Amino acid sequence: MANITIITGSTLGGAEYVGDHLSELLQAKGHQTNVINEGIMDDVLSASTLLIITSTHGAGDFPENIAPLIDQLLSERPMLRDVQYGVVGIGDSSYDTFCEAGAKADALLQDLGAIKIGERIDIDIQAHPVPEDEAERWLTDWMPLLNASN
Ligand SMILES: Cc1cc2nc3c(=O)[nH]c(=O)nc-3n(C[C@H](O)[C@H](O)[C@H](O)COP(=O)(O)O)c2cc1C
Repeated sequence: MANITIITGSTLGGAEYVGDHLSELLQAKGHQTNVINEGIMDDVLSASTLLIITSTHGAGDFPENIAPLIDQLLSERPMLRDVQYGVVGIGDSSYDTFCEAGAKADALLQDLGAIKIGERIDIDIQAHPVPEDEAERWLTDWMPLLNASN
């Protein structure tokens, strides 16, 4: 079973709630999880499976609880070749910069050599006011793709 580090980026709590929900579902299937709402570099460096769940704020910006970590990853550029990852983006399609933070996190992790599992989901709260339902559907596809030895 995989050991999954869940790092959330959230301003209003929605992405944190999704993180808690997916954590419970993963645990119910026997995976180990750790939900982190103020992620730091060591959390990423010690992760074997990383699940980033982030909303978008400002104009395509990361929420403040994850922005320092992203900045540090961008500047220090650690190699993450042994890390498998997934990204859940949450946003509102009325913004031009719809789910841009999730897309940026995805591109960054790929750039750092991490192994992408499945496809990223960009959840539109206009269409899905309860994002955890849509995230749960996504998880059903994502979970079987995990390398259980990570
Ligand atoms: C001030 C503000 C700016 C936002 N900017 C964006 C944006 O640029 N792109 C986007 O997709 N959603 C944007 N949103 C929508 C949020 O991402 C969305 O409401 C999300 O559900 C918030 O999740 P959270 O509770 O985890 O912070 C913005 C929301 C607010 C309040």
